[in-house]
Amino acid sequence: MKRIVIFASGNGSNAQRIIEYFRDRTDARVVQVLSNNKNAKVLERAKSLEVSAFSFNRMALYDTDDVLHLLEATRPDLIVLAGFLWLFPKKIISHFPDKIINIHPALLPEFGGKGMYGKYVHEAVSAFAKAQPEQTTYTGITIHKVTPEYDKGDILFQEKTVVTATDTPESIAAKVHQLEYDHFPAVIADYLASKS
Ligand code: GAR
Repeated sequence: MKRIVIFASGNGSNAQRIIEYFRDRTDARVVQVLSNNKNAKVLERAKSLEVSAFSFNRMALYDTDDVLHLLEATRPDLIVLAGFLWLFPKKIISHFPDKIINIHPALLPEFGGKGMYGKYVHEAVSAFAKAQPEQTTYTGITIHKVTPEYDKGDILFQEKTVVTATDTPESIAAKVHQLEYDHFPAVIADYLASKS
């Protein structure tokens, strides 16, 4: 049984779907959820699905090895960033080579990088679409390996959706979330299978 650890900063709707997807499978399971925000809804979601969940602060992630030691004890086969908004530290990346993936709510390399997360991505996509009404604009999801730079690692999967003239940042977010729910768990399963 492969072991998945999820990092998330906020709501955790993707984390919930990933936990539920693997709950009834025999090949992998979400064993832990970690958040940089002690009030994040993702912690409640995980606990109510009987997955152990902890929060940590900046010092534990960047200045000490507390989070690294926790991960060493948990022995994940895959670390999944599902709405994790802090830069992932180099020392953890080098400890888990090819074992950390992230989902980004747009079609990288467009609309990525520092500060491009969550609603800021959808606002930028919406503004871009409105500025070029004669052109079809697409957005979507990108699942990629994590490197020490934001949104730069090898791309494993992308899926797109059209942005229409009447779309708002909120409606774009809803479309993108639906793509995430439809594809992210299966991409995780495929990636784990490809590594065994
Ligand atoms: C997701 O849309 C994810 O792609 C995005 O945060 C959202 C979290 O939603 N991630 C980023 O923007 C990372 N740069 P959720 O907490 O409901 O799963």
